[in-house]
Amino acid sequence: MEQKQPIGIFDSGIGGLTVAKAISALLPYEQIIYFGDTAHFPYGDKSKESIQNYSKEISTFLLKQNCKAIVVACNTASSLASSFLKLILPKDFPLIDVIVPVANFLQTSDYKKVGVIATKGTINSRIYPKRINELSPDIQVSSLATPLLAPMIEEAFFDNNISHTVINEYLSHKELHNIDALILGCTHYPLIESEINQFYSSTKKNVFVVNSAKVVAQEVKKVLKHKSLLSTSLKKEHHFYVSDFTDSFEKSTKIFFGNELTLKKENIWGG
Ligand code: DGL
Repeated sequence: MEQKQPIGIFDSGIGGLTVAKAISALLPYEQIIYFGDTAHFPYGDKSKESIQNYSKEISTFLLKQNCKAIVVACNTASSLASSFLKLILPKDFPLIDVIVPVANFLQTSDYKKVGVIATKGTINSRIYPKRINELSPDIQVSSLATPLLAPMIEEAFFDNNISHTVINEYLSHKELHNIDALILGCTHYPLIESEINQFYSSTKKNVFVVNSAKVVAQEVKKVLKHKSLLSTSLKKEHHFYVSDFTDSFEKSTKIFFGNELTLKKENIWGG
């Protein structure tokens, strides 16, 4: 593999753009090929089998695009399909999920009571308590499924009275009482990070909000450096693919990456 090859990143929709943005800020010489599986959004309530199938097809597409690494920028796919992808990708192919980097980060922190909010798929898999407690058995992890949040964000429906009410209702849940850190366990949630912080400052609670995008970008850098795959020359432009066109995907992508981008529809499932 060569340094000049692109990094593949995928999610069910716009959420992974938070990770893509952090990667392009940290590694400005890297070219990104992004796939948003908008036709199958939301992943959060789909079966493991479906998520594995979608993830397999998308990874195959990204390999065909000559990617040197794949970032599973979706917690639901990371929870339900990462181990499966490792089995089908070439041996030692760099595959980075969004959960292990967060568990590594917590191991180096002083937080002992940690809450996780995420989709039903991620919460029911219990991947966060498992991965965190493998490294830090003394961290108490409480989990809450917050299924309304990703669809609300995908529709760009936030920063208004209704989103405040939904966010306040979820964050006031007894499962999340007395935590000192809250993991945003869905890559869509960094888009409502300021509303979440507002909730904690208005309730005078000192809760550190863990936004995995930056932590994951650092992990990508570490993995590529270790494999001598970091690009050092000027990058080519990023490519954005969706399985179905949606207005909100186009709008959000432009907010994140500027107006000059081209969005392509790719029917990788045929038919
Ligand atoms: N962005 C995806 C995640 O991190 C979730 C959104 C969905 O339900 O598709 O889990």
